[in-house]
Amino acid sequence: MEAGTPGGISVQDEAVDKSNFKKCNQIAFYRRQKLLRPGKSLYRVLLDSVTLSDENVKFQIIHEGNKVLLQVEIYEIEGNIFRLKIDEASPLRPRYKVPDVLIKEPTTQRLLISHKEAGILVLSSVNEDYKLRVTANPFQVELQSKGETVMSVNSNGLLYFEHLQPPPSDRYTQNEEALFLFVQEKQEDLGLWQEKFGSFLDIKAHGPTSVGMDFSLHGYDHVYGIPQHTETLLLKNTSDGDAYRLYNLDIFGHKIHEKIGIYGSVPLLLAHKPNRTSGIFWLNSSETLVDISTKAVAEHTPSRSAAETAKQRAVPLTDVRWMSESGIIDVFLLMGPTAFDIFKQFAQLTGTQALPPLFSLGYHQCRWNYEDEQDVKAVDAGFDAHDIPYDVIWLDIEHTDGKRYFTWDKKKFQNPRKMQEHLRKRKRKLVVIVDPHIKVDPSYILYAQAKEKGYFVKDRNGQDFEGICWPGSSCYPDFTNPDVRKWYADQFAFKTYKGSTNILFVWNDMNEPSVFKGAELTMQKDAVHYNNWEHREVHNLYGFYQQMATAEGLIRRSSGKERPFVLTRSFFAGSQKYGAVWTGDNTAEWSYLKISIPMLLTINMAGISFCGADVGGFIGDPEPELLVRWYQAGAYQPFFRGHSNMESKRREPWLFGEKNTQIIRKAITERYVLLPYLYTLFYRAHTAAEPVMRSLWIEFPGKMETFDVENEYMLGKQVSYSLQFDLNIFEVLHDKKKTQKLWEPFCLGFVFLQIPVFQRGGTVIPLKTSAGKSTEWMIDISYELHVALDAEACAIGELYVDDGHSFQYLHKKQFLYRKFTFHKNILSSSLVRLKILQIDTNIKEIVRKSTAYLRDKKDKSGDLQVCNTWSVYIF
Ligand code: NOJ
Repeated sequence: MEAGTPGGISVQDEAVDKSNFKKCNQIAFYRRQKLLRPGKSLYRVLLDSVTLSDENVKFQIIHEGNKVLLQVEIYEIEGNIFRLKIDEASPLRPRYKVPDVLIKEPTTQRLLISHKEAGILVLSSVNEDYKLRVTANPFQVELQSKGETVMSVNSNGLLYFEHLQPPPSDRYTQNEEALFLFVQEKQEDLGLWQEKFGSFLDIKAHGPTSVGMDFSLHGYDHVYGIPQHTETLLLKNTSDGDAYRLYNLDIFGHKIHEKIGIYGSVPLLLAHKPNRTSGIFWLNSSETLVDISTKAVAEHTPSRSAAETAKQRAVPLTDVRWMSESGIIDVFLLMGPTAFDIFKQFAQLTGTQALPPLFSLGYHQCRWNYEDEQDVKAVDAGFDAHDIPYDVIWLDIEHTDGKRYFTWDKKKFQNPRKMQEHLRKRKRKLVVIVDPHIKVDPSYILYAQAKEKGYFVKDRNGQDFEGICWPGSSCYPDFTNPDVRKWYADQFAFKTYKGSTNILFVWNDMNEPSVFKGAELTMQKDAVHYNNWEHREVHNLYGFYQQMATAEGLIRRSSGKERPFVLTRSFFAGSQKYGAVWTGDNTAEWSYLKISIPMLLTINMAGISFCGADVGGFIGDPEPELLVRWYQAGAYQPFFRGHSNMESKRREPWLFGEKNTQIIRKAITERYVLLPYLYTLFYRAHTAAEPVMRSLWIEFPGKMETFDVENEYMLGKQVSYSLQFDLNIFEVLHDKKKTQKLWEPFCLGFVFLQIPVFQRGGTVIPLKTSAGKSTEWMIDISYELHVALDAEACAIGELYVDDGHSFQYLHKKQFLYRKFTFHKNILSSSLVRLKILQIDTNIKEIVRKSTAYLRDKKDKSGDLQVCNTWSVYIF
């Protein structure tokens, strides 16, 4: 049987077929919610029920039609965050509330009731900066900041809450039941108790449980976020088409510019206008759809002059409607007011980016598959022979014994430890794939143990859920169960995972989870998890939990000393705490290179800085120019890995002729030289939640012309990268109020040795003076500071250094963190935080060296200094 066709089915052909995936109108809860049109909400606040405590304000709202009561809780959370929770006042059974995503129960602040009469309740924040104006009839909430309305909730009356009901058979006499079924049949497309998709039947044991709500964002017409879609940076109006879907799916050969969900979901939306950024974090792990509509509305202020037309007074407004299949409404309103405040607020809730081990910021060489030990050694040697730095070689599913993860193919990998010792001597690492599905095979220890302990997800009949994936028939560990996560983490112990060493790290793939013959190639929603929750409740969390358990396992195998590296395909809000993500199976076409940038920028905005796209494009064979360009792009993205499909031709960087090898070598070398800066950025992501890769608008929040730019971005504050396909002129932004046009020597047809990367005026960037064979080979290579002065001839920058692999920086504060200031022609360095003086000695040397370097450069070339990689501008 061919490896790519387990169980004899052609997985890939099947997956490309669009009819395998739902369009919005094939999703029953979406159709049900869409029956509710914008208008006056039927919910009314029972003002008598209002109670105030230190923690929150609570009250009930009643639905005027069905008289069902909902409990509303409003919290103010430290740091300009408001939380709105809506649940049934007395549900038939508890509804699912997403656990494990918030890093802790947020610290609340007491709200004050500043007004309660005539159907209006006004709540004020402690500092009085914010006011929540709750209107009783219909129920609406308006959030104001210093008198400016920023957001309103339910202003379109789209609050939607399906309360739990007993199954029809419990509610009706036999005759009534017949009547009910008749009505049901007539309204079959409502999918209340069951829903069909092709040959799949989803039986809803608890009936319809959908929730939804609308939010109006006042003054905003630029919204971003809610990854992952193959879409533009700026979210589009969905009024005439499909909503953005957040439902983790394995779509092989996915197309671009589609709103269907792929692989990972983060239900965080950002809205930006020149003076303010706001965010909405919709904490719900069931299938979710987001409708967006932007319009201009008349401003309520009177016209200042007779000549002023209504159009001049029109202000933008964006309506965002969230619809989820299940759970409760638990939404965090992030009030910014800057984009960086939003990132901090989101991190305060879900955690920051894990600090990656330094090696993982180097270049990764992957392929499905490196065949055997000889192949691995040959590829490894190839990098040295061609003088190309790299850190990690990867093994895909074929390295295992019949797709039994944690094992080795005994013929091809006879001595995996020896192979790793070989790599270790060459200061390189190995990453192996560990997918979640477990082959149904009683003689496979993992399967036998999980079966015996009852650790697999169950089907609706209580049997272990069985689906098909690479190994054929497979079962799926229930990672939502903490005991299962502990057991899974234990599998990474060196004594348990035979043949593994401490240079082996992990890749979690297919964890949406991918189920080849399942509905939409994933798990049935009526499968059952820990504590009896249906899969529909937890679907978007499955990959999140697998990566959590894997990272935990790698930390534990080192007795808590070493930082893990785990790459995951599926993710959710908070996945940043566990490692890296990549954008999955892209195609070797120019359009996929182009879309990778807005996709990565969006993932970064959603808290996950450590992300990348397969360099070269996974599916197909890139023309050499595309491959080269992709390396040049990947070198300036957070996670940098070349990867290709089984059917793709080999594409190690030296296979495309000397000229191309030279350009790729240069791109990878630049990456290695840049690592001190990149690592410092990751430290900032880790400690201050600043995204590593940033859209221009984040750095230039007042410049409207940056708001939709998606072919240029910033790496941190200091470096901008520009993806240019066919222009020979492009614009560089700087701190002044203008953009500057430069001739661009990087266009196609030219030499294109240079990557269009710029250093921002007023900054200092730490670099290495040269690259080495891998990060470990570079420890002794000295640092260099590149200084780009601003108009006042000043510059500032930072450098963070630690041992690059352990948790000592946390536990023992063993790190160095220095700030550099260039002022009046003197470069000085000051401590940001410092514990270990040993590294500090080196840094003094760096400063001396750099000052000399600067003087040297300035004497030679006057105002505009062009260094090897960096164009240094004095603005
Ligand atoms: C799908 C992943 O997206 C791809 O990167 C990997 O090579 C294959 N699975 C095989 O494991």
